[in-house]
Amino acid sequence: MDLKERIFYLLSFIISLVVGFFFPLSVDSQCNGSLVIVNFGDSNSDTGGYVIVRGMIGQLPKKHTISHDLAGRMCDGRLVIDFLCESVKNGYLTPFMESMGKNFTNGVNFAIAGSKTLPASDSFNLKIQIAQFHRFRSLSLELFDKGNGNLLGDEDLRNALYTIDIGQNDLDGVFGALSYEKAILKIPDFIFEIETAIKEIYEEGGKNFWVHNTGPIGCLPKSLATYNKYKDDYDEHGCLISLNEGAKIFNDKLYLLCEKLRDEMKNITIVYLDVYSIKYDLIANSSNYGFVNPLMACCGYGGPPYNYESNNKCGQGNYTICEDRSKYISWDGAHYTEEANAAVASKILSTNYSTPPLKFDSFCNIEP
Ligand SMILES: *[C@@H]1O[C@H](CO)[C@@H](O)[C@H](O)[C@H]1NC(C)=O
Ligand SMILES: *[C@@H]1O[C@H](CO)[C@@H](O)[C@H](O)[C@H]1NC(C)=O
Ligand SMILES: *[C@@H]1O[C@H](CO)[C@@H](O)[C@H](O)[C@H]1NC(C)=O
Ligand SMILES: *[C@@H]1O[C@H](CO)[C@@H](O)[C@H](O)[C@H]1NC(C)=O
Ligand SMILES: *[C@@H]1O[C@H](CO)[C@@H](O)[C@H](O)[C@H]1NC(C)=O
Repeated sequence: MDLKERIFYLLSFIISLVVGFFFPLSVDSQCNGSLVIVNFGDSNSDTGGYVIVRGMIGQLPKKHTISHDLAGRMCDGRLVIDFLCESVKNGYLTPFMESMGKNFTNGVNFAIAGSKTLPASDSFNLKIQIAQFHRFRSLSLELFDKGNGNLLGDEDLRNALYTIDIGQNDLDGVFGALSYEKAILKIPDFIFEIETAIKEIYEEGGKNFWVHNTGPIGCLPKSLATYNKYKDDYDEHGCLISLNEGAKIFNDKLYLLCEKLRDEMKNITIVYLDVYSIKYDLIANSSNYGFVNPLMACCGYGGPPYNYESNNKCGQGNYTICEDRSKYISWDGAHYTEEANAAVASKILSTNYSTPPLKFDSFCNIEP
């Protein structure tokens, strides 16, 4: 790429950031904080649940998180789900686990860091999150009818957008424990759990779904520093091919599941988001997006190439935080920085990576 092209990309990126900052909504948006979002997932979309359950306050030194509102995220700021909420003028999602000052009128977040699809009934895995949804739904309907203004009524829950982002920890688990061939064989079981979850929500009246596929785990500093059994397995960008192949197989099956459910279930809308391609592009073309060291954690220990060591993870032991976190894609080796999440979210909102290409804000003010 020549200098002119570089400057062009840099300028377009800066302009898009500035424009996105001052004009976060397109003029034709019909949203005004009216979209109810019900989210299920892991740390990629956990807006504080894990930290609340553990009785902790925030994750990291206060000066590195932007505000109290954003404490409890595995990030130095906002997550992709936070940017999606902002795009429809919603407040940030309240974790289901929150017991103080709660307000669920914009929706509820069942995501908990570390969650998987399997084993089904372990800790806060997907099946438990769905069970919590059933409980939330029945109590919310009852109290809403009695006039509780912080909860959701039947119509709210029927028109809600149900968002799901899970699977990364399942893949991490099986690839860490099993050979590639055996790990791959587990993937259909993960997909089956997601199918069951969507069907259960549908049976309770939910009909709008927004499903994120899983990112290139073979490019995470944590994977690169941990799975040295895949030593001869790097692609041209330095990522682990076999782990990324596992993610792609998972994603292909998730895509087919979404197609199948659209055929099977009346009036269902499922938007499948190719987050993998967005994140891989961010890493492969990192300098175009203003990032350096795409495979190195900002917060961690050990220096190049990955700055990740399991005994000195971000927030533990002798970890340090990089000078300019806005130049890093990876925050702590396993999670993206706020800056990277902003770039991912803006691509998600573009509909270029959506099947079908429906806009996120098209779910606002749907006629009942
Ligand atoms: C809850 O939040 C919504 C949206 O931000 C707001 O309109 C409503 O007044 C809040 N409820 C209470 C009781 O503060
Ligand atoms: C599907 O939507 C149509 C139009 O809103 C409605 O008449 C029909 O009952 C719905 N079918 C189901 C199975 O929900
Ligand atoms: C990197 O950017 C180029 C030019 O925009 C694009 O053609 C290519 O597909 C990108 N690479 C990835 C892995 O997305
Ligand atoms: C942190 O550094 C100190 C001093 O070098 C060392 O004694 C200690 O073992 C280190 N902690 C970890 C978890 O590596
Ligand atoms: C989406 O695709 C269009 C048409 O290819 C392109 O002009 C635009 O830059 C893309 N937007 C993003 C955010 O990738």
